[in-house]
Amino acid sequence: MKNEYIPQLSTIREVIRHTDLEYTFLMEFEGDVKPGQFFEVSIPKYGEAPISVSGISEGTVDFTIRRVGKVTNEIFENYVGDQFFIRGPYGNGFEIENYKGKELVVIAGGTGLSPVKGVVDYFARHTDEAVSTTLIAGFKSPKDVLFREDFAFWKEHISVIQTVDAAPEGYEGPVGMVTKYIPDLKFNDIQNTAFICVGPPIMIKFTVMEILKLGVPEKNIWISHERKMCCGLGKCGHCKIGSTYICLDGPVFNYVDGKELLD
Ligand SMILES: Cc1cc2nc3c(=O)[nH]c(=O)nc-3n(C[C@H](O)[C@H](O)[C@H](O)COP(=O)(O)OP(=O)(O)OC[C@H]3O[C@@H](n4cnc5c(N)ncnc54)[C@H](O)[C@@H]3O)c2cc1C
Ligand code: FES
Repeated sequence: MKNEYIPQLSTIREVIRHTDLEYTFLMEFEGDVKPGQFFEVSIPKYGEAPISVSGISEGTVDFTIRRVGKVTNEIFENYVGDQFFIRGPYGNGFEIENYKGKELVVIAGGTGLSPVKGVVDYFARHTDEAVSTTLIAGFKSPKDVLFREDFAFWKEHISVIQTVDAAPEGYEGPVGMVTKYIPDLKFNDIQNTAFICVGPPIMIKFTVMEILKLGVPEKNIWISHERKMCCGLGKCGHCKIGSTYICLDGPVFNYVDGKELLD
């Protein structure tokens, strides 16, 4: 019987290099996983780090990892056929049912796209299940763009604004923060919208402010709350705010509840 407390050795099936600092590792995994859930990824002697699921396929789960410290540096020393430990999945994840039949807008900043990528992909592959789907994704610069192949596919099926904060002269795509594109969004029925906002806390704060200016009810907004986590299992208390354990009750929250948890 699978015990989600116990780290399992998992083999790297493929590595996709997006930028110098961000790679996706396709890892062997059997079991049910939802977009927005996360795993604890570990290497003995280096430690553990919570990492969101950025893709789910038969027999594999994807982790898009930014190289920032002890554990993630060591993970980047591995390649196809190598192994590291994973335990999970943890957290609630996104419920696809919440967004069906809606005018859905997903707004993501940088690696914030990873946890919500499965939702975007679902509605790009099932366009008849939402009234419309729009993705606004922001990156620092053109060289920081992740998931280029996925963007090419999404652009054929849903409305996509892929923007960069700053670009060199001659760059032809959208430039500016994700918030710049929110006031121009058009809806048939603002009550029947659903917004998902994922990224750094400061980006969530300003993005939600713009969304609310459109007259969107708070209950139509979902956020994913990445907070300092340790065990991922509701035991250590690192992620606790008031009586809420982000690792168990989240990391995905409807804004009505989630707004109280933003730092
Ligand atoms: C729910 C959840 C999901 C996440 N999903 C992802 C994901 O999909 N992909 C991803 O890449 N990350 C994700 N993260 C973030 C990731 O877990 C952290 O970046 C984690 O700390 C990386 O572990 P590490 O050991 O490599 O880094 P650490 O060594 O813990 O370093 C973390 C940060 O601290 C800084 N730091 C380290 N040592 C020092 C020092 N001595 N002085 C000053 N600063 C220092 C580093 O520069 C870095 O910015 C997620 C986090 C959460 C909570
Ligand atoms: S991370 Fe340990 S209780 Fe949530």
